[in-house]
Amino acid sequence: MPKIVVLVSGSGSNLQSIIDAINHDELDCNIAGVIADRECYGLTRAKEAGIPAYIVDRKIHRERLSEEIDKLIPSGTSLIVLAGFLSILDNAFIDKWQNRIINIHPSLLPKFGGHGMWGNRVHEAVLASGETESGCTVHMVTSEIDCGQIIVQQKVPVLMDDTVESLRLRVQETEHSAMLAAIRKILEK
Ligand code: GRF
Repeated sequence: MPKIVVLVSGSGSNLQSIIDAINHDELDCNIAGVIADRECYGLTRAKEAGIPAYIVDRKIHRERLSEEIDKLIPSGTSLIVLAGFLSILDNAFIDKWQNRIINIHPSLLPKFGGHGMWGNRVHEAVLASGETESGCTVHMVTSEIDCGQIIVQQKVPVLMDDTVESLRLRVQETEHSAMLAAIRKILEK
């Protein structure tokens, strides 16, 4: 059974969809650990599911943070999933786990990605630009933020009367299935 590790910083709804899919035999892997860079609800979800849950201090230097995270990842881990993880991992970490780290982003990359584009800022920018569609992207993590190979993308319409919150919720619904599709795609390779 392939082992995956999930990194979180927020509510952990993507983590929850992975946990649920495993419990319903819809995803063939084990979550070997959940690592958070701050106290967050994602950590609580991991603990409630009986998954080893760790917290690392994001205020330490970026290099040390990546080293600390690396120490918590068991050897033989097939995939590291950044599910709303907000710290930046360093190049040594990304090189070591090359092609085995994926991230989910709440826009149709390469649009609305890059440094500082996270959370509601993404949806604000989409609404301000007058785009008629948005969505989510699961992509490989490389040293350039939000630029790695796209694995799965799912689109949603942007509606005339959308607010940041209504668009965020519509995109979030697609994230959960996009994330599962991407994990399957990689683990089945
Ligand atoms: C998602 O919108 C994801 O695209 C972004 O962070 C958010 C995480 O949500 N990278 P959750 O913590 O999984 O609920």
